[in-house]
Amino acid sequence: MFVLGHLSDPHLGPLPTPRLSELTGKRVLGIINWRRRRRVAHRSEVVDTLVHDLQAARPDHIAVTGDLVNVALDLEFAPARQWLSRLGTPDHVTVVPGNHDVYVRSAVQYPARHWGDYMRGDGVGAAAPHGRPAHFPFVRRRGSVALIGLSTAVPTAWLTATGKLGAEQLMRLADTLDHLRHLGLFRVVLLHHPPTSTMADRLKRLIDEGPFRRVIAEHGAELVIHGHSHVQSMVWLDGPNRPVPVFGVPSASATLHGRRDPAAYNLYRIEGEPGDWRCEAVIRGLHNGHHGVVEIGRQQLNGH
Ligand SMILES: [Fe+2]
Ligand SMILES: [Fe+2]
Repeated sequence: MFVLGHLSDPHLGPLPTPRLSELTGKRVLGIINWRRRRRVAHRSEVVDTLVHDLQAARPDHIAVTGDLVNVALDLEFAPARQWLSRLGTPDHVTVVPGNHDVYVRSAVQYPARHWGDYMRGDGVGAAAPHGRPAHFPFVRRRGSVALIGLSTAVPTAWLTATGKLGAEQLMRLADTLDHLRHLGLFRVVLLHHPPTSTMADRLKRLIDEGPFRRVIAEHGAELVIHGHSHVQSMVWLDGPNRPVPVFGVPSASATLHGRRDPAAYNLYRIEGEPGDWRCEAVIRGLHNGHHGVVEIGRQQLNGH
């Protein structure tokens, strides 16, 4: 059995003092928003409690689906790197970036510069000089599981938080999924933005969610995981032979009293073989009326 832990959107604080040159328009709004709302709704002690519980479950690997920082200030990245180091080694933890990690255009290179070794493929990383943007999609193979990391993170205009994969990344994703299916691997796709949105999400949706869903419908995957929405979610996408489960987790730092779901993480317990994969999702997190982290639910994904 392979156990994959999944947490997302820690939005690590506290926010460092920005340099004057970093105070661009969108960042100013983001910083005001953090001071007014987010620093109360997102707490580092919540992340610590969640991570402690996750590590006690001794997962074989951990996936972090983006938004590690808040407004992508230069000084936010080194503490986030330290947090990642405490979570596990680059070999044990896989990261994909979120929109807050590339909040403004000047920050686009920061995630790769600071966390590059957490978001590069088995075959690609060794030769890539430090600081080069990671190559997406990247693939990491761990036993019979293949982790496919995508980037939906793009800087966006004020008051928007949309994501985009782009035609080239989608084309390579299709080839990658075929290749990994031929190898008989359990394919887990990691991306920050959910691939299904509602009209209410218009300003924060994945712009090319339709093309992404078409790639999954044609080439398949065994599991898709994401963050961004800060709520617990599970939907099915069409696949070539059977539906594909899609899981979203809340922010790993969300308190019990925020506007969205309190902090939780998922464990995916994967076993079986091609044509007969079995996966059980276990959801653990904060829950009203309970102390610490408790099991919120579990779901068997086989039989679909
Ligand atoms: Fe987020
Ligand atoms: Fe996000």
